Amino acid sequence: MQSKRFRTGRVYAALGLLFAALSLAPSLHAASGMGDAANGKIRSQAEQCQECHGEAGLGTAEHYPKLAGQWAGYIRKQLGDFQSGARKSEIMNAMASDLSPRDIADIAAYFSSAPRWSGEEDNFSAAGRALYLNGDPSRALPACASCHGEKGAGADTGAGPIPALAGQRESYLINQLNAFKADDRANSPGAVMNEIAHRLSISEIAALAHYVSGPRAME
Ligand code: HEC
Ligand code: HEC
Repeated sequence: MQSKRFRTGRVYAALGLLFAALSLAPSLHAASGMGDAANGKIRSQAEQCQECHGEAGLGTAEHYPKLAGQWAGYIRKQLGDFQSGARKSEIMNAMASDLSPRDIADIAAYFSSAPRWSGEEDNFSAAGRALYLNGDPSRALPACASCHGEKGAGADTGAGPIPALAGQRESYLINQLNAFKADDRANSPGAVMNEIAHRLSISEIAALAHYVSGPRAME
């Protein structure tokens, strides 16, 4: 449930931020956030989120995911899943446990309205690109692009938001695909990512992560 206070007191602040965001950067997803981004900035600092995910949501180490410009609906879903235990991570289950619904909405609005990350240097893999764009019909492996988009931008589809992937950190992507493959992460709708990752070999996961993390995945 989004807070009712948003609808009354915070509409003007949100509109102001929306305009500021739209005029600053082309790839922002601020429009999808339903929280108060200014308060989210304060709360994400107070809750120490920024220590690992960075002040601007760019992540401070290889295994900390970038959040800047990620869809707000996806961030909210993940924080809810960490709270309920549907997604397991020792760190994040603890970090999310005390967040109120309002904190979740505001923090998601803040990170999603931060300028979107760029790709990791010159990472590229031709094999990863082919698999990402075409999948492999011979083993019923769908193209990643069919859901995550050709440029890896994802989509805020409401109930089952699809994360932006392109330019995300390579080791984080490898960790997540391995976790889906091993069923250690099992929070995707209808277990769709588990079904897909079961069919990927370790070297395909490496090739996909190398391609997806690079700037050319966004072109
Ligand atoms: C000590 C480091 C650390 C802190 C502090 C931390 N995180 Fe995380 N966060 C992580 C790691 C590591 C992961 C990846 C977990 C996994 O392996 O699934 C993660 C994952 C996430 C994700 C999922 C991203 C995705 O692409 O699916 C979100 C959202 C998130 N954190 C938000 C937060 C918020 C909000 C806070 C503050 C309340 C916070 N984090 C504090 C380390 C941290
Ligand atoms: C049928 C749609 C669909 C297809 C096809 C698909 N994905 Fe996903 N993917 C999703 C959804 C939905 C999620 C979010 C799951 C959740 O709610 O936690 C996701 C999550 C992910 C994540 C976790 C991102 C993060 O920030 O934690 C990675 C990595 C990923 N997918 C990679 C891939 C790759 C690589 C392929 C192709 C081999 C692929 N996906 C194909 C729908 C899809």
